[in-house]
Amino acid sequence: MKRELPKRRRLQPGPAGNVVMATVVGNDGKPNIITLGMYMPISINPPLVCIGVAPRRYSHSLIEENGEFVINTPSIALEEQMHYCGIKSGRDVDKWAETGLTPIPSLKVKPPRIEECFSHMECKVVQTHTCGDHTLFVGEVLATTVNEGVMKGESLDVLVARPIVQKNHVYYTVSEK
Ligand SMILES: Cc1cc2nc3c(=O)[nH]c(=O)nc-3n(C[C@H](O)[C@H](O)[C@H](O)COP(=O)(O)O)c2cc1C
Repeated sequence: MKRELPKRRRLQPGPAGNVVMATVVGNDGKPNIITLGMYMPISINPPLVCIGVAPRRYSHSLIEENGEFVINTPSIALEEQMHYCGIKSGRDVDKWAETGLTPIPSLKVKPPRIEECFSHMECKVVQTHTCGDHTLFVGEVLATTVNEGVMKGESLDVLVARPIVQKNHVYYTVSEK
C-alpha cells in the first residue's frame, strides 16, 4: 500500500545525500563557509559540478561577486563544525574563528580550502540558473586535491574518508554493506 505525501513533504523521502562545505569569498576578501546538501557532479569532461544556494544566503552574494567556490568534503569527525556552518550566517559570525577550521590557499581560485576536509574541488562558475527558490551554480573544476591515504586506486576509499551522509539534518557515515 502506497501513501501520497502532501506537497510540502514531496522531497522528504528521497535518498540520503552528500554534505559538502563550500568556501566562497567576495569583494571584501573575507572568506566564508556554507554547508550544502545540494551538491551534484554533472559532467565528467569537462569536469562540472553544481550546487544549489538560496538567494538569501550570504554566500550567494559572495559567489555572485567573485564567481568561484571550493567544494570541501568533511568527514564525520567534522560533524559539529559542518552543522555550525549550516546554521550560522557569515553576515553575523566569523565561522573560521568559531569552528577553529583552518583556511589554506587554493591552487587556482581565490576562496581558500578547508585544511581539515579530505578533498577540495576548486571551481569557477560557468553557468547560473534560477531553479524555484534556489540558484543552481554550475562550476568547472579547475583543480582537485586530496589528503594522502583517502584514495584507493582512482576512487575515494569511503571507508577511510568517512564522508557525511545526511537526511533532514541527521548525520550518518557509510559502512560496509
Ligand atoms: C546539512 C545542511 C545542508 C544544507 N544545504 C543547503 C543547500 O544545499 N543550499 C542552501 O542554500 N543552504 C543549505 N543549508 C543552509 C545553509 O548552510 C545555512 O543557511 C547557512 O547558515 C548559510 O550561511 P551563509 O549565510 O554564511 O551563507 C544547509 C544546512 C545544513 C545544516
